[in-house]
Amino acid sequence: MPRLTINVDHVATIRQARSAKEPDPVSAAVLAELAGAHGIVTHLREDRRHIQFRDIKILRETIKTKLNLEMASTQEMIRIALDVKPDLVTLVPEKRQELTTEGGLDVILNKEHVQSVIRLLNDSNIPVSIFIDADLDQIKMCHRIGSQFVEIHTGHYADETDKIKKEDALDRVTESVKFANKLGLEVNAGHGLDYTNVSKIALIPGIKELSIGHAIVARAVLHGFEKAVADMLALIKHTEIMKDIKAM
Ligand code: PXP
Repeated sequence: MPRLTINVDHVATIRQARSAKEPDPVSAAVLAELAGAHGIVTHLREDRRHIQFRDIKILRETIKTKLNLEMASTQEMIRIALDVKPDLVTLVPEKRQELTTEGGLDVILNKEHVQSVIRLLNDSNIPVSIFIDADLDQIKMCHRIGSQFVEIHTGHYADETDKIKKEDALDRVTESVKFANKLGLEVNAGHGLDYTNVSKIALIPGIKELSIGHAIVARAVLHGFEKAVADMLALIKHTEIMKDIKAM
């Protein structure tokens, strides 16, 4: 069974929408660990749209499992990774306009740069994973340039609505995991996984960790909604009762 790592970015998305202090992704990470999660994932984006540097620093000091820092391979992010020393860095492509990471990193196109980033991080004992599409040539290149892990993009499988194409996408993920394992790479997988589609991915042999964010944050918001409303109503009711008692 693959381990489950929780991406807490979208807890920060809610916080940043109001430039407020809550909800705090660090608190969410602690709750995720208490629920049994095997690790915490965050993506510190160049535009800081959700996770902030402060979050990464406090997560590093707070969590008891493992911290997987997703990042673009820029000078700024490399400096931050060397400072924070996450348990794993996952290199991802990053475009300012995208809503979320849209595709895997093209390691074939960027091999020299990616290789130099891997070396820099490995020299500080930080293992590196690369987020790639389910493509055997990309996997071969990740292995050739010395990556220890790959994370296979499951978003194309998750988003596909045509039954035959969805099965093809699942086969590509399965073949990719098998091939990467054969080359000796550790394999993670993630993106777009939710309560309806995770089972078939979880059944693929050889996946070490699944990285899931949006679906868990979305469910948590709705699961907690009734209680949050009831808590507020109880507080208002209590205030009214206290006012009457004081007036006696
Ligand atoms: N893996 C990577 C590399 C990602 O960029 C993301 C999204 O931040 C995820 C996994 C998690 O995707 P989702 O939020 O759709 O579960």
